[in-house]
Amino acid sequence: MKQIVVETKDLTKNYGDFIAVDKLNLKIEEGEIFGFLGPNGAGKTTTILMLLGLTEPTSGEAKVCGFSPSREPLKVKGIVGYLPERVGFYRDLTASQNLMYTADLNGLPKKETMKTISELLSSVGLSDVGEKPVGAFSQGMKQRLGIADMLIKKPKLVFLDEPTSGIDPNGITEILDLIVRMSKQKISVIFCSHQLNHVQKICTRVGILARGKFLAEGPIDQLGKQGKGQERYQIEVQIEKIDDEIIKLIKQIKNVNSVTVSSNSMLVSCDRDVRSQIAKVIVDSGRSLIGIKVEEMSLEKIYKKISRGE
Ligand SMILES: Nc1ncnc2c1ncn2[C@@H]1O[C@H](COP(=O)(O)OP(=O)(O)OP(=O)(O)O)[C@@H](O)[C@H]1O
Ligand SMILES: [Mg+2]
Repeated sequence: MKQIVVETKDLTKNYGDFIAVDKLNLKIEEGEIFGFLGPNGAGKTTTILMLLGLTEPTSGEAKVCGFSPSREPLKVKGIVGYLPERVGFYRDLTASQNLMYTADLNGLPKKETMKTISELLSSVGLSDVGEKPVGAFSQGMKQRLGIADMLIKKPKLVFLDEPTSGIDPNGITEILDLIVRMSKQKISVIFCSHQLNHVQKICTRVGILARGKFLAEGPIDQLGKQGKGQERYQIEVQIEKIDDEIIKLIKQIKNVNSVTVSSNSMLVSCDRDVRSQIAKVIVDSGRSLIGIKVEEMSLEKIYKKISRGE
């Protein structure tokens, strides 16, 4: 069984009368990339601050690798990394010097550190600019340096707050790849983002928070199946002329839940990708198929439906 890295029981934070986090139960396993989602003000950062030991819960409890962030904050700080949205570095110091500074703060031995820094710079693709001042770095480079900075102390768990915001498409791919590589090294990742397509690419499980509570939580494809009209696949089929008979034939295919007609195409909602069965039914019936394409339920759609309470 995989190790549980984060576990909270009825974790709650009140600010005066206002409940920012409301009896939250959260479990995260080793090496998991968990998408922590929710609208502005939902309570994501407040939850993270409690897990980091930076703010006290009002009630309930949290454990990070078995340690209590409020009672054993130093233990927790030693094993977690945090990448804020805008990482702060000393602009006049080089990338290596900035990493060295963090290593010193964490009390790492100098000898090993030199080697670790050069390995980390290479793993985030910054070897060539390791001796350049950070002031000249682009946002994407700073973000990658931020990841290296976080990894210096070999954390078990990292929190990433909007790590892809303000970064160009190639830079985004690099950062998402880096996150996946961290998880392969058994580091658990809590990934906060409003960019749901990025979350969908790398997260195995997500939790959607609103007003301090989970509206839904689980593997993305299972969330997509909750409720009617939320089947996993939508297949758009174009044929010359749509008639009742072909609609009936397609409805009889296994795993097809519904067929709707919109202008010159049919939209087939189903739990599996049944494109080849649909194509066969059409061709066997003597009709000609003009086009067929499949769209997997996007996390964005799932998120919108769940947040509207449908
Ligand atoms: N120190 C504080 N004092 C009073 N209220 C606070 C404090 N910190 C947060 N809040 C309130 O708690 C709620 C949750 O805030 P939080 O920052 O956790 O949301 P979030 O999910 O991280 O939002 P965002 O997506 O905007 O980052 C908000 O309504 C916020 O105004
Ligand atoms: Mg926040």
